Amino acid sequence: MFDLSSILVVVSYSLCDVFGLDPNEVDPSITVEGFAIPDPATLADPTAAAYAAYLRSAIPPIDLNYQFRKELVRDIRYWWLTGEGDVLLLWGPTGSGKTSVFEQWCARLGIPLFMAKGHRRFEPHEAFGQFVGGENGTTPWVDGPVTLAARYGLPCIINEYDRIAADRTIVFNDVFEGRSFPIPGKSGEVVTPQPGFRVAITANTNLVEDLSGNYGTANTHDISILERIVALHIGYPDDETETKLLEKELEQFSDDLLTYWLDQEGVKLSTQTGIKEGSAISRGEFIAGLVEVARRIRAQSKDGGNTSDAALERTMSTRILRKWARNTLAMAGTPEKLGLSALHLSLKKYLSSLATESTRIALHQAVESVFGVGERVNP
Ligand SMILES: Nc1ncnc2c1ncn2[C@@H]1O[C@H](COP(=O)(O)OP(=O)(O)OP(=O)(O)O)[C@@H](O)[C@H]1O
Ligand SMILES: [Mg+2]
Repeated sequence: MFDLSSILVVVSYSLCDVFGLDPNEVDPSITVEGFAIPDPATLADPTAAAYAAYLRSAIPPIDLNYQFRKELVRDIRYWWLTGEGDVLLLWGPTGSGKTSVFEQWCARLGIPLFMAKGHRRFEPHEAFGQFVGGENGTTPWVDGPVTLAARYGLPCIINEYDRIAADRTIVFNDVFEGRSFPIPGKSGEVVTPQPGFRVAITANTNLVEDLSGNYGTANTHDISILERIVALHIGYPDDETETKLLEKELEQFSDDLLTYWLDQEGVKLSTQTGIKEGSAISRGEFIAGLVEVARRIRAQSKDGGNTSDAALERTMSTRILRKWARNTLAMAGTPEKLGLSALHLSLKKYLSSLATESTRIALHQAVESVFGVGERVNP
């Protein structure tokens, strides 16, 4: 194979800079290695240029609003540096940042990442590759994401790993061992993973049991797999992290728009300095209210660990929190124009329409109790 060392150019990044961590909390001299893949236009050799273009396209796009948690960065870095051969399991409730933390890790470090997605009837070719119908009746072989990552010495991530029927995960045994592996379906070709090959998997459960009872399709996995895993639990971010990510998410909306909407919506919010109404509420207080709603909903939900029979089957994930906040302000005109609350309309769109009736009611009550507005806005 083509020598990739001129393409996968190793560079050292400051952990603080690259992940936006606070230099007072994390030593700025700590570094981590990633790549700077040259611009294909600068490469004279067409083969090199083609590899550079291809590998650049496999780097996940950067999410500038992403907030890294220093504990997670520390744990992922530890695995990255020492855990070659161990599989990283990122597990936790829906929309908590499992897939995105590793994608953004790779995005910021300029690392191409290959991805597969688990489901019950997962077939080996989805990870390893297959012969596909080509031109003129040919059937060329196309590598799958795990094979590609092993050949190039790069990471791959298998999302929703616990959805794969347990007896279908056996094909991963050699891969997870870090050994050379035969490619299923390619008559005996063996791939020897190149240095730098790593496997991360994500799951809602710890692969052993589903305490929330919310992930009916998750499967209990073989002990032999568990022996090869480093597990990192990813719960919802703390208030400080979610506050920061909401500040960034809402930067696009001006203060004028925010105060206009707070007045029209008739928001009444309990703040640290007492009850405030409408435009008297600051941006920071509004964001604190959003985080408070998320906290209340999570406390009542199965995903948040509530085990009572009345626990909600849906929750306010970080994913939905971001969309709910942004969409609320994007619909700032609805209270004035339609007499409807933007907070509630947006919640319906992203969460409560896809919930049972009892959960729907509880979700809207959480919004009403924090922001003091019902679905209809009083003229
Ligand atoms: N730390 C964070 N900073 C900014 N946004 C975040 C953060 N964590 C999660 N998000 C938002 O939540 C979305 C969902 O995150 P992600 O895809 O990582 O969830 P997940 O834990 O893999 O969920 P699932 O179990 O549904 O696969 C991201 O696209 C991002 O918008
Ligand atoms: Mg995911």
